[in-house]
Amino acid sequence: MQVSLSCEHKTLKTAVYPGTFDPITCGHGDIVRRADILFDRVIVAVAVNAGKQPVWGIEERVELARKVLADLPSVEVVPFDNLLIEFAKQHGASIILRGLRAVSDFEYEFQLAGMNRRLAPEIETVFLTPAEQYTFISSSLVREVARLGGDVSEFVHPEVKKALQARYN
Ligand code: COA
Repeated sequence: MQVSLSCEHKTLKTAVYPGTFDPITCGHGDIVRRADILFDRVIVAVAVNAGKQPVWGIEERVELARKVLADLPSVEVVPFDNLLIEFAKQHGASIILRGLRAVSDFEYEFQLAGMNRRLAPEIETVFLTPAEQYTFISSSLVREVARLGGDVSEFVHPEVKKALQARYN
């Protein structure tokens, strides 16, 4: 019997992981690393998000995320300033990836996923949970700890720690 090794039916699965990443934390990194195992390509989409008034500019947030994820060849970090579903379509992504840290994330995530599905039914939202030790981390909490002189080594990559020290010391 001849076994076909053709992979012409395999569709490359691209997932977009959006966020403000102000800055990227170990919690975000944990989600990306899990997604890297599941999908062929992961695009970390860094939102300009002027509404949130990020502490770091878009170039710095992208650069930090690229440094943190440099060891993952199937992961790209790209800035975006348009509708998330349009960005996903432009990049051939059929999946929006979101992290769920606690029940409190659920309501907002459910709303976001619902709106994105209404706008683009062909794009699926997939949720992953980070490792337990990252469930309480957020970018603003990490910034606050750093600003008040606390040790953030456990929560961020050394490059991000350096950037936090440069900003707050
Ligand atoms: N580890 C650590 N922290 C995490 C985390 C994880 N796994 N997942 C989320 N967080 C934190 C973030 O750091 C952030 O912290 P902060 O509020 O202290 O800054 C917080 O949780 C919220 O993160 P998130 O839900 O990802 O929000 P965001 O502001 O980073 O991103 C967008 C929101 C960009 C995804 C959303 O606004 C968007 O899609 N914008 C594009 C425009 C659009 O299409 N709008 C219509 C959407 S229906």
